[in-house]
Amino acid sequence: MKSTISRRTALKRMSLAAGGALSAELFAHGRATDKPSELAVSVLLNEPIGTIKPAIYSHFTEHIGGVIYDGVWVGRDSKVPNIDGIRRALVDHVRRLGNVVIRWPGGCFADKYHWRDGIGPADKRPRRFGRWQEVTESNQFGTHEFMRFCRLCGAEPYFGANVGTGSPEEFQQWVEYCNAPAAKTTLADERVANGSDKPFGVRYWGVGNESWGCGGKFTPEDYCREYRKFTDWLPGYGVPLYLIAAGPDGNNLDWTRRFFKKWTDFARAPIQGWAPHYYCGTTGHALKFSNDQWYEMLDKANRMEQLITDQWAAIGEFDREHKIKLVIDEWGCWHPAGTEINKRHLFEQMGCLRDALAAALTLDTFNRHADKVDMANIAQLVNNLHSLFLADGDRFVATPTFHVFEMYKPHQGARAVRIAVQAPEVAFKAAGKERTLFRLAGSASVKGKDLTLTLVHTHATDPAEVSIQLKGVSDALASGSEIRQVVLTNEKLSAHNTFENPDQVMPKSKALKGDPLSVKCVLPPASIARLDWKLG
Ligand code: AHR
Repeated sequence: MKSTISRRTALKRMSLAAGGALSAELFAHGRATDKPSELAVSVLLNEPIGTIKPAIYSHFTEHIGGVIYDGVWVGRDSKVPNIDGIRRALVDHVRRLGNVVIRWPGGCFADKYHWRDGIGPADKRPRRFGRWQEVTESNQFGTHEFMRFCRLCGAEPYFGANVGTGSPEEFQQWVEYCNAPAAKTTLADERVANGSDKPFGVRYWGVGNESWGCGGKFTPEDYCREYRKFTDWLPGYGVPLYLIAAGPDGNNLDWTRRFFKKWTDFARAPIQGWAPHYYCGTTGHALKFSNDQWYEMLDKANRMEQLITDQWAAIGEFDREHKIKLVIDEWGCWHPAGTEINKRHLFEQMGCLRDALAAALTLDTFNRHADKVDMANIAQLVNNLHSLFLADGDRFVATPTFHVFEMYKPHQGARAVRIAVQAPEVAFKAAGKERTLFRLAGSASVKGKDLTLTLVHTHATDPAEVSIQLKGVSDALASGSEIRQVVLTNEKLSAHNTFENPDQVMPKSKALKGDPLSVKCVLPPASIARLDWKLG
């Protein structure tokens, strides 16, 4: 359903309405309105869900297009400001994202990658061809450079092992090279000779990637057999390994059930994480879409909710105690080519406000399932799909999605609590059919005295007045509490940050007045908001 007034008019009317001059005029559901509709959120402080692992705010860097070469690695002799060859601006920004994990070297690349190609003197490393499309891989960025990148960012590494074209022996030797204490084994000596006395202590290991596709085109049963071979008798060298098995393409329950049926047949190989990948795709174009396509895109992103509950239930049929958690190690929007900043950057896309809302509603979904999701990695960190950053030579910009991750940081390590939302749905049309999408959704968490509520307001044209009630907190705790509101929005749904105009979509913060137990706030159309309380 198309709006009847422009977003600019709606925003002007909203500021009037927020000042108290409310018009009584009512419009049909899903259309622009003069009166901000009243919506309500209750934060149920005594209904805990679980601790939000900081790792659900994690990232992915693959040897593909411009992610590693140009995005992360500019080379030691580059004019681009760098630390030992690693782009300094990227490090400075990733440091702002909290205790996150970075996955590497793929993706599809991981199942073609032989880790020994990327160690030792840089000028002696082999050049390989065609590992992700027809390009040469210089191997200038390998295990030590990736570890340096993680250390500089304060991030934890997550390595993806090669099941497609590698062997269990090659995988187990990589673990040994990374984790064996100095002088313990020949591979540990080699690591020391290559400059790293201390073991890397890598906990997270993915055993194959998209094994139903580019990772070997296995059946779930065949992949399960390979998984067993790769993980049998795998020494940890004192590091508690967290092993991740390749889950389905999206919410394919057949892959999950067949893998786990095989898994229970005989030997239950060690698995800590199950990794479905979900790309919500696109509607229209990265920067050109109708209001209907705006809603349809967000609706597709919102299918993560169903994926989590379905996959969790399917795993539970075999792992009744739910020891295995979900690791959504690739997710995000995937738009058609055309907005690359550099044609060599495969899959690079310009992320706009719509991508920011898709990211925010997905992070809220993960928070609401904090008991099920151990890690999630948006694809990919820089110069690719749904990226937080775009970089080309010495130019660098943070996308609106970066601001979402930074806004949501207070949730990391906090205890998720339930919220109840009362709001009408928004109607839209997709493929000629009437559909609906939530108008307001979010998540809340508590860490010490800090209460954080994040909200995504999807209405493309109308503002909303939201009443927020804190339930299950004593008046004494809430009294005197300050409330701050941070909002990310823009008048244009396709607003984005560019090298020339990097601050087009930026969060804005203000204090909210009123009773902390029952506060009202106005959310602009198409916005993401964070509200912070400091409880007494
Ligand atoms: O993120 C780009 C590609 O998408 C990855 O290499 C692969 O795992 C997925 O299909």
